[in-house]
Order: sequence, then C-alpha cells, then structure tokens
Amino acid sequence: VKSSGGNETGKFGHPFGYGFLHEDINNSGDGGIYAELIQNRAFQYSKEFPVSTAHYFPINSASLSIQNLSVPLSKALPASLRVAAGSNSTEYSTGRIGFENEGYWGIAVSQQKYTGSFWVKGAYKGSFIASLQSNLTNDVFGSVEVVSKAVDSEWVEHEFELVPEKDAPNSNNTFAVTFDVGGTKHGYLDFNLISLFPPTYKNRKNGLRVDIAEALAEMNPHFLRFPGGNMLEGLTNDTHWDWKDTLGPLKDRPGFQGVWGYQQTHGLGIMEYLEWAEDMDLQIVLAVWGGLALNGDVTPQDKLQPFIEDALNEIEFVAGPANSTWGAKRAALGHPEPFELNYVEVGNEDWLAGYPGGWNSYREYRFKMFFDAITAAYPHIQVIASAATSDPAPEGATTGPNTVEGLNFTETPGAIGDYHPYRRPDELVEEFDRFDNDIGHIVGEVAATHVNGGQTPRWDGPLYSYPWWQGAVGEAISLIGYERNSDRIPGTFYAPVLKNVNRFQWPITLLQYSADPKQTTRAVTWYCWSLFAHSPISHTLPTTSNSSYGPLYWVAGRDEARNDALVWKGAVYNTTNSSTVPVSVKFQGVAPGTKASLTVLTNSVADNYAYNDPFTGVNIVNTTTSELSAGVSGAFEFVLPQLSVAVLDTGRA
Ligand code: AHR
Repeated sequence: VKSSGGNETGKFGHPFGYGFLHEDINNSGDGGIYAELIQNRAFQYSKEFPVSTAHYFPINSASLSIQNLSVPLSKALPASLRVAAGSNSTEYSTGRIGFENEGYWGIAVSQQKYTGSFWVKGAYKGSFIASLQSNLTNDVFGSVEVVSKAVDSEWVEHEFELVPEKDAPNSNNTFAVTFDVGGTKHGYLDFNLISLFPPTYKNRKNGLRVDIAEALAEMNPHFLRFPGGNMLEGLTNDTHWDWKDTLGPLKDRPGFQGVWGYQQTHGLGIMEYLEWAEDMDLQIVLAVWGGLALNGDVTPQDKLQPFIEDALNEIEFVAGPANSTWGAKRAALGHPEPFELNYVEVGNEDWLAGYPGGWNSYREYRFKMFFDAITAAYPHIQVIASAATSDPAPEGATTGPNTVEGLNFTETPGAIGDYHPYRRPDELVEEFDRFDNDIGHIVGEVAATHVNGGQTPRWDGPLYSYPWWQGAVGEAISLIGYERNSDRIPGTFYAPVLKNVNRFQWPITLLQYSADPKQTTRAVTWYCWSLFAHSPISHTLPTTSNSSYGPLYWVAGRDEARNDALVWKGAVYNTTNSSTVPVSVKFQGVAPGTKASLTVLTNSVADNYAYNDPFTGVNIVNTTTSELSAGVSGAFEFVLPQLSVAVLDTGRA
C-alpha cells in the first residue's frame, strides 16, 4: 500500500482545500446566489438574446414597450421600458397604470426589509406605489409610496425600502410599480434598472442570497474558482467575460451574453466574487481569459499581448496596492486592502475547446506567454494550466505529445495543471491512485455525473437527475485520492455548485433551490464534502496497512492549526457485498485512552440511487457521530458499512 502523499512541508501554506467552481450556469448567478429579485431588470441584450419585455406584465391595460431613447440611462443600458396608457386610454387617463415583474420564477415575501430602486424619465407629479403582491389572489403583502422626482430632461433614480406587513404563503408573487397617468406630462413614463433586494449575506449591497450563501459557507469551504468554466471563455472571442464590464454602479454594467442559454446582468461581477470569497474566508483561483473562445476562435500570437496586459491589470485590480493604477480603482470601489491572490488559471479546458487550433496554440505560445508575464510580475502566484496530463489528445492536434506535459513545463517551471473528472462512480474509484505519480494539479471541477453502465462514451448518455448516494461515495473516494497527494494537489472544486430547479442545463449540483428559500436543498454529496472539509489536514501522514485499498480507501494526516489534531478519512465502496468492514486505525504515539470523534455517513434508504429531492425536502443521508477511545494497543477500532463515508478526528472529540 502506497503511503499517503506526505505534504510534510505544508507546501501550499494551507490545508488541502475543498471548494467550488462558480460560473453562471443553471441560473446560479442571476436567479441564484446573486440576490436580485427582478428578472430582466435593465432590458439588457446581446446578439444571442434580443431585448424584450419578458417577465413584465401590464397593470390596468398599460402598454409596455421597449424604447431606445436618444437620452439613454447610460451607454451600458441603452434600452428601457415605456409604460403608457393602453388603447383604452380614455378610461385610464386619470387612473393608475404600471407593471408587474414575476421575478425569477416567483418572489418569496416575508416580513423583512427589501431595498429597491428604479430609474424614471418623463415629467410626473405624483407618487409611485411599489408593492409585493400575490400572483394568485388580491393579497398585497406590503407596499410603499415613493414620491416622484421624475423630470423630462434626465433619468432620475428613485430609491425605497419596503417592509411587508405579512409573509406570503408561497413564492407565487410579483413586484409591482404603479403611477397616476393623469399626473404625467405625456401619458407615459420610461423606466429602467428596476431592482429589488432582500437582506443579503453579510449585508453586502448588491450582495448574495442569504440561504444559498449560508448553505455554501456551512460546508466549510476553502476555495472559490471563478468565473468559469465555459463562462470565462465566451461563445466567441469578441464576447468573452470581460471583468472590466462588471465594475462599478449597476447602470454602467452592460450585461453579458451568457454561454448557458440566457442573458446575464453582470450584477455578480468581479468585485462581488471577491467579496464573496472574503466573506467566506476563501482562497481565490482567478481564471483569466486565455485567448480562446468556445467556438474555437483563437487569438493569434501577434495579437495576444493586449490580453496578457489585461490579465495583469485584472490581477492588479484584485491584489495590487491601492496606489497602483488598478488597485486604485478597487480602492475607489470601497476596498483599499488588496485581496489575497495565490492562484491564477489561464483559460479553461483548452485541451477540449476549439481543437486542434485551440490546443496547439495553447501548447505553442498562449500558456507560456501568460505564464511568463504573470510569474515575472507576481512570483508568489501559482499559475495553473487549463488541462491535465491525462486529458486525451484532441483529434487533429498535430505537434508534440498531447498532454499537459506537451505544454513543456520545462519552459514554465512550477506551473501545475487542472483536472476535470466528470465520471461514473466506478471510474472515480478506479482513479483513486490517479495522482500518485504525477505533476501538480488542481482538480478544478469534479463530480459523479453518470451512473455506472449506461452509454459509451458516457457523454452520449444523460447526467443523472441529482447527486445520488452511490455517486457521492465514489466521488468521496476520489477526494481521498486527491487529498493523500496534497503535496502536489492544493485542492478540489465541486462543479457546478448551484441549480435553480426552474431553469437548468446541468442537473448534478451541490445545492438546489427555487425562489422559495424553504426549497433550498443540500445534495447528498454536500454532506460528504462538508464532512471532509470540516476536518482539515495540513500535513498528510505516511500510512502502512495490512490490507490493500478496496473496498476501504483512506488518508491520514494531522492539522497544525488545530493543535496537531489527528485525522483519518475513509470510505467503503462495494456495491455487491453488504457485509461491514472492520477498521483499526493506529496513529504513531497515540496513548491508550486517547479520544476521537467518529462520524459516519450512510444512505438511510435501501436504494443506492436515492437522492435528496428538493420537491420532498427529505434528506436521505444518515449521519452518526460517536466518541471512541484508543484501546490498549493505541488503536481506534470500529466497523464501517458498505457505501459509507467516515472521518475519525481527535480534534473533534
Ligand atoms: O461545470 C460545467 C462545465 O463543465 C464547465 O463550464 C466546463 O469547464 C466543463 O466542461
């Protein structure tokens, strides 16, 4: 049995990290962790997603139309919503008209402070009424009068706070704004950037949805990799995710042609990602655009330098001093202190997208040009290449070995790779020793996505509906395999993490949710990641065993920050044998009677394919915790059931 990896030097300066990749997929940003409640708040559009009044509905026969006024709200937001008296305007020429917005498949309403604003152009003497109301009944849960400051000559922002008098029984509600058309000069008003936020995580303005952020934070994560994933790459070179478009006031953010089938607001911008990391005390893996888009567009070598400078500017924005050019812009946005930045990845999945040109150009010049520039300016930053040594050769790749080693790491010393195993559980278990003899990598995306068997190649078959128990255990074994090599593998990232059950394209995620926070559900796999993440190991320990790996897999270590607590993490994976597995764990130097806490996760229903369904809310993961004492030999003795995941930790006793 191979010893644990032996991260005896604590090389990366932190325990092996469990974390997330976040990009906007499955409405995980807009309509997800980004707390904005109004969908299509600023009529943003792109080539793929034309401007429209989608998600708005007229009140009292108002006519709603999109206008491109000669005086737009801003260069970034040229389109706006005209709300005019409808065709039966005589009837309503003195009445109230307006619009409702349905939110992201509903709006949860409870007795808390909502903070909102909207911009108006057009002279109006009177008041607006902003309200939260039922979509099913005549119930109005709360409303507020907003005195008009609207004029003809310019756009004027109207801000308000709204505290409902009662909770709504469900999330089938809308947000409405009305005005008295008789008080307007022209019989209509133009609206833009209509925004409504509930209280946010750590009370950040323009911040995160509390229940989703808390569920992520409760996993005790260590890493946030952003902004992708495919989102970073963009559909074309001209439409990649440009961090500069995401800065500053919302009226200056044009929105983004997302790569996952919907227009994005840019509300969750680089500053919001950084504050998210800061608020959860996460290490950042910042992915910088590497000159390749999903359609295969490659930036030629003689045109790449501006993008390298752009990446350096982005790094300076994140981590530069407040008196540097971009650090000063960050300081002006309220964060003079640099954010800690130790990891930068160049591109995403360059081995996969846009082959063969994409891969060849990455190997031949793109990665090295970024690596050299970043390393020269920031020698402490670990630069990461967006492929793994085992990634298959793209068809038609012409030069050199078709692996990360083909990147020629002799010319980019110290660079590490990025591995993305979306696999069947059997495959994840087979890969347990994947990193025993390899260069460093992050495991930048991992999940059990397909059930065993099924179609070959696996991507010809569907992803399963939700993370399921057998998948979670197989995945846990791969995590153990990464953690015992933590001298070269700084951490692993679940991907994608969030799914709005109303619109998604990737069902396997850590958390599922709708507009109603009561439906926010942790997947079975969240419990395994959380268990491992709550017992960090700063230094792995060499292990010996009188049996080989399988069906029991393990890693052992100590955690310096917790007074050298001793930790053993294990999992049992055998789908054909139901007998329990006896385990005896002996740490060198542990005296008889030493206490440790043993936590074991199992499936509480007799179905290995069972999952946590947000529509029932039932958690099928059974957690048992017991206190053990080392026996006379100094060993901790226990048994583990089949398909179980366990942690023994002297620091938790
Ligand atoms: O996590 C979903 C997608 O899978 C990511 O965007 C991409 O990097 C990978 O192929």
